[in-house]
Amino acid sequence: MSGPEQAMQAGDTARFLRAWLADPLAIAAVAPSGRTLARLMTAGIGPETGPVIELGPGTGVFTRALLSRRVAPENLLLIERSSAFTLLLRERFPDLDIVCDLAQRLDHHARARLPGSPGAIVSGLPLLAMSRLDQQEILTAAFSALRPGGTFVQFTYGHVPPVDKAVARGLGLRFDCIGRTLRNLPPASVYSIRRIPT
Ligand SMILES: C[S@@+](CC[C@H](N)C(=O)[O-])C[C@H]1O[C@@H](n2cnc3c(N)ncnc32)[C@H](O)[C@@H]1O
Repeated sequence: MSGPEQAMQAGDTARFLRAWLADPLAIAAVAPSGRTLARLMTAGIGPETGPVIELGPGTGVFTRALLSRRVAPENLLLIERSSAFTLLLRERFPDLDIVCDLAQRLDHHARARLPGSPGAIVSGLPLLAMSRLDQQEILTAAFSALRPGGTFVQFTYGHVPPVDKAVARGLGLRFDCIGRTLRNLPPASVYSIRRIPT
């Protein structure tokens, strides 16, 4: 890693720690995700995916990975609740559409801002730390926005999918673990979440 990259990473870790101290439940991590996790989260996503939504981008680790997989800037919509992270993201990615709002409203923003239905949603949200109601609202909005067969990609620091069982059953969700990495602080697993066709 180059000197400027190292300095940026150190700055992002300090920002994250400050954000976590201010709102531990909304951030639910003391450091940004690493590059290995970013690669796993974006595996299988590319220009052919069409529009993509990223939820809870934080300092933009997954955003960078999505752009390096050649997702077109006009096909990428970021939704971040923290105004401090939103300002930082707008400086870093001036070509992207970045909304400061709750992920619960993602279907409204998708309809208003994207050129078509998303083929994937990449989530950095702390789903595990969220209430059952928040999970239900976010996943309902996600699967109403996603095109049929679209996937919701989520990481977790736990060993099981980070969604309440009743919520998953009610929405007819299927979870596939698509990767794990020890090279992240803490180690993480990635799940592809799809709706079982009825
Ligand atoms: C664990 S951090 C992940 C940040 C980044 N994706 C990463 O992996 O380094 C969680 C992020 O989700 C954001 N967030 C939490 N709840 C949210 C919500 N309801 N809607 C949108 N963003 C939310 C936080 O502000 C934070 O940026």
